[in-house]
Amino acid sequence: MIQNEKIKLKAVTKRYTRNGQPLTVLEGVDFEAAEGELVSIIGPSGCGKSTLLNIIAGLDQPTSGEIYLDGRQTEQRLGVVGYMQQRDLLFPWRTVIDNLVLGLELQGVSKKAARQRAMNLTEQFGLGGFEQEYPYALSGGMKQRAAFLRTVLADQEVFLLDEPFGALDALTRTQIQEWLLSMWETVNKTIVLVTHDVDEAIFLSDRVYVMTARPGSMRQVMRIELPRPRKLEMVTWPEFVRIKAELLSSIREGGGLREEGAVA
Ligand SMILES: Nc1ncnc2c1ncn2[C@@H]1O[C@H](COP(=O)(O)OP(=O)(O)OP(=O)(O)O)[C@@H](O)[C@H]1O
Ligand SMILES: [Mg+2]
Repeated sequence: MIQNEKIKLKAVTKRYTRNGQPLTVLEGVDFEAAEGELVSIIGPSGCGKSTLLNIIAGLDQPTSGEIYLDGRQTEQRLGVVGYMQQRDLLFPWRTVIDNLVLGLELQGVSKKAARQRAMNLTEQFGLGGFEQEYPYALSGGMKQRAAFLRTVLADQEVFLLDEPFGALDALTRTQIQEWLLSMWETVNKTIVLVTHDVDEAIFLSDRVYVMTARPGSMRQVMRIELPRPRKLEMVTWPEFVRIKAELLSSIREGGGLREEGAVA
């Protein structure tokens, strides 16, 4: 039990049909995130992490189980949470700036004000000078940064981020992680982050959930007791290394980070 639950999932199960056969992707998933908490989810490829975020976001409904937002059970979750999907999903027919302001426009912010807010951040996100380009002209890392910036600009109370930094080089990744932390430390946002990167999960999170291989369920949840504000050098602390060893062994016992049957 945690206090001030923002998101709560009880016994969520999801089945798809593939080639006429039922495929259980999630099995009895229990999950919660408190208001203002930063929670990460790590687990093997194909264990259902993106499916879980789709369900929380309201893009998909569970086969069974309960989902609460702000303590209320509702099927109308679309538009209430900010969601950065695993694929960047920039609209190819909109320029970078017009992609960035999409969420703000949907909220009724004037085009001029929305553009101003976006322009204040493009430089910092390495998108300066590319505002009028179309997505095809961006590198993979730039597209990912644009999708991330669009999500945080939309300024919802909850952000669901699915591998938001996967396409970034180590240095840019670290800079954006630090930016995310400093943003999150000044506002009361609830963040659910899916990542393959154990260091990233520990460095950023209040708690880390480890999922089992498909059908995915929660194998372990660990509270990260490192002090805040987090500093990069903490990754060398004995406490950090101890937490990492424990998480890695839990991941291994749960089936590793690769999909079952995948070739190494
Ligand atoms: N609409 C769908 N219909 C049928 N099967 C689906 C559908 N969406 C997802 N799946 C299957 O559900 C399983 C979980 O997919 P999901 O994308 O949630 O995994 P994941 O944990 O996000 O993996 P990764 O780490 O590779 O992103 C996969 O086996 C996938 O093929
Ligand atoms: Mg995924």
